[in-house]
Amino acid sequence: MSSRNSTPFHLLTGLDSALKTAAGAAGLDLALFNPEVRAAEARHGDFQANGVLAYAKQAKANPRDLATKLVAQLPDFVRETCEVTIAGPGFINFTLKPAALLGWMQAYSTPALLAAGAAAARPGEVWIVDYSSPNTAKQMHVGHLRSAVIGEALARIMAFSGAKIIRDNHIGDWGTQFGKLIWAYKRQLDAAALARDPIEEFERLYKAGNAAAEADPAILKEAQQELVKLQSGDAEDLAIWRQIIDASLTAFQQIYDRLGIHFDETLGESFYNDKVPLVYRELADTGLAAESQGALVVFHESHPRFKTQPFIIRKSDGAANYASSDLATILYRADHFRARGIIYVVDSRQRDHFEQLFLTAAEWFRRTRRTLPALHHVDFGTVLGENNKPLKTRDGENIKLKDLLGEAEERAYALVSAKSPDFPEAERRSIAAIVGVGSVQYADLAQNRSSDYLFAWDKMISLEGNTAAYLLYAVSRIHSIFRKEGLQPGDPEAEAGAGAPETPAEIALARKILKFADAVRLANDSLRPHFLCLYLYELAGEFSAFYSADKVLVDDHAIRARRLLLCARTVLMLETGLHLLGLRTLTRM
Ligand code: ARG
Repeated sequence: MSSRNSTPFHLLTGLDSALKTAAGAAGLDLALFNPEVRAAEARHGDFQANGVLAYAKQAKANPRDLATKLVAQLPDFVRETCEVTIAGPGFINFTLKPAALLGWMQAYSTPALLAAGAAAARPGEVWIVDYSSPNTAKQMHVGHLRSAVIGEALARIMAFSGAKIIRDNHIGDWGTQFGKLIWAYKRQLDAAALARDPIEEFERLYKAGNAAAEADPAILKEAQQELVKLQSGDAEDLAIWRQIIDASLTAFQQIYDRLGIHFDETLGESFYNDKVPLVYRELADTGLAAESQGALVVFHESHPRFKTQPFIIRKSDGAANYASSDLATILYRADHFRARGIIYVVDSRQRDHFEQLFLTAAEWFRRTRRTLPALHHVDFGTVLGENNKPLKTRDGENIKLKDLLGEAEERAYALVSAKSPDFPEAERRSIAAIVGVGSVQYADLAQNRSSDYLFAWDKMISLEGNTAAYLLYAVSRIHSIFRKEGLQPGDPEAEAGAGAPETPAEIALARKILKFADAVRLANDSLRPHFLCLYLYELAGEFSAFYSADKVLVDDHAIRARRLLLCARTVLMLETGLHLLGLRTLTRM
């Protein structure tokens, strides 16, 4: 609400600044006043400012008097758009007037206009999203699902919120596993198997090399020498390694395509191979790292655990490790990409690693007078099976992601075929691909990422509850309303002459539509997509209530236009929100 003629996208932020302006005009000490504007429970209006209470306590003033003074100083446009009331001991409640609801819905009528409004949250900030990041030479399995799904959703939400996002797949392509793998490759390669399914063959070779090395110390030595040869640039080993990486990336991309993921960069651990010596040097020179039994380690004196638990940045055999390449990666991202921040979408079991990494980087950058990007470990829990243990196949193997997505599509196909048996087979198949993969993505995103989540097919692929199918069905149902009239959502002719919402159901729906802005903002600020899921689910519920209370396609032109406008904005928020989560949508199901 910064100016009279423009309708702000984030009303909450707009009210916050209006209250600060009013506080200044009313003579409050701005250093002590925080308006504390938040979304209100519907019965109290749309927003509520609670900050007067804390301020009054400090200033030893009567909170109700203070609230009255503040309200009197609110800029005119606040009172034009909201009913403002003072409640209880001094809460200020704001209820948007129907005309303001209409104004907002008219101002934000396309995805581009929504994005332009949302972009104020992170204007032009460069953020690296480090996600998926699997280790090479292995299939992606169910343990790789969450990072890919959550990372992609956050990348989209942050980009929508104005950030310039660099999606970086920090693949594990330089580990000790290559010694054993190359050793076995040179001796036991099955060319036909390699041609059929290279990753499967690499997995077999790795297992063979590992078993041989365990059984015979001489072989272990040979495998270690292969690793040294690779790391010092031996042409033959490098060629084998390159082949393994290329085949892995091709297999990964097949999964990414199904999940709608495209990386801007795939700078794995090997990329930082020539960049770690600088890390050793600077950390040693600044006294941050010290030699300990041949290894280079960092301790953090002021941390209860990390003052004795070392962060090893160079192993005693001189080799780089996960920590050294992650340190080099931070410097590269700061220098080369000018990153304002980095998020690491990695499961919670790596919490210690990231804590130590961030502490070390902060101290390193401080001592070398560099500016450290903001660093966030976006952690998440484990995918559990129905027995509450990490999800596995019946014989205890990891479930391959391609099999899991395949099963999702099959189950969705059954659901679609039961619901719409008259649709042509090809259409049912393409709907099933969207519903199946979307259900897996959505089930992962819909709950707070910090907790473990129970993988249950029947709950996930269902038309009931907070599921992808429920939301996709709501989208297609709204499209069918327009289809019946030969129209499309957003067609100006459908909503020409629409007035402000009038009936209780219309008003309730409009108020929910506007809350899209806050939901995206909250998901963006907290890096938690489930807030957006919850919003979409509530919006779909509000739409159902409206749809059963108020008939849309009535003869009265004004009523019809007004209700079609509400339908169009509901589907706009649903589709935009689902796309932000990484799902595809459909118009018929
Ligand atoms: N490759 C690692 C793993 O599979 C994840 C890498 C995450 N990114 C990072 N910069 N450490 O555990």
